[in-house]
Amino acid sequence: MVASAAMATGRGKVILFGEHAVVYGHPALAAGIALGVEAEASPAPENLLTVDPWGVQVAPPGDGALQEPGEHADLAEAFAAAIASLPEGTDGATAVRAEVALPAAAGLGASAALGVAVIGALHERFGVTLSAEALSHKAQAWERVFHGNASGIDNHMAAHGGVARFQKGKPLTPVALTAPIRLLVAHSGEAGSTKEMVARVAEQYARNQGKLEKVFSGIAALVDQGELLLQRGDCEPLGELMQLNQALLSALMVSTARLEGLCKSALAAGAFGAKLTGAGGGGCVIALCPAKQEDRVENALTGEGATTFWTTLEHHRRERTNASA
Ligand code: PMV
Repeated sequence: MVASAAMATGRGKVILFGEHAVVYGHPALAAGIALGVEAEASPAPENLLTVDPWGVQVAPPGDGALQEPGEHADLAEAFAAAIASLPEGTDGATAVRAEVALPAAAGLGASAALGVAVIGALHERFGVTLSAEALSHKAQAWERVFHGNASGIDNHMAAHGGVARFQKGKPLTPVALTAPIRLLVAHSGEAGSTKEMVARVAEQYARNQGKLEKVFSGIAALVDQGELLLQRGDCEPLGELMQLNQALLSALMVSTARLEGLCKSALAAGAFGAKLTGAGGGGCVIALCPAKQEDRVENALTGEGATTFWTTLEHHRRERTNASA
């Protein structure tokens, strides 16, 4: 095996339509964003795999024993899953360093982006270049550590990027846009736990499967409509679909008063539509705005204490960096 330093990236994502329903086998539309995670894996002198900035130490490839995980038990478990995904016979002490530009617990897929970046860098370090599909598949085990019953949408988007339709068990389908679409992302400042929100929906599902399936079918119809409108770049009706999706997410009880307030403010300031993105319970809302109202909508949301950034939805494939030295 080649022993060298290597880098890889994982993207964050926004879910445009279909969160939660996607866990139950329905389709969703998502887009990779420029913010993400960059990881570097390089040979290390000690017989450990150390992961910074967390100072987590786990058994290196080729070694059996897991080190004391300390306060980052879930990260240590996820890193152990990353190591287990390396080809048999791979061994060597390694230092992994990750730069995380995404806020955690914000619905932007930070944990999957970290998984994809770390797994990509670890494989490159040992001379293995993974396809985006293989990378995404390997990152699913990582995601399970943090999110339990994850649909797989986050790791797919972290590995592939672009705008895509995702459905469990089907290949990711890129959505071709006629023109780039700008989207405002506003972080509420509340932390949302994906695991808790997915569990909350699961409880409701167990109590009233028929009702939840109706809600999910409604969301799936928005996904189908949304895909056509995205392809055409028809933003006003897309915004209306976002409103409808937000109402259905509220019905699933994954929205919060703060997220509802931010969506209302975006609309009042002229947005075509706004909704929470990701699991909810906190985290971010996304807003689609007429070009002339962009500043007004952004100012309305920052005025309420949200942290904002713009992302551009466009058709692109993930670029992998191979910095083998
Ligand atoms: O909150 P995030 O960024 O992890 O997104 C979760 C999306 C869900 O549909 C709620 C869960 C999933 O695994 O698809």
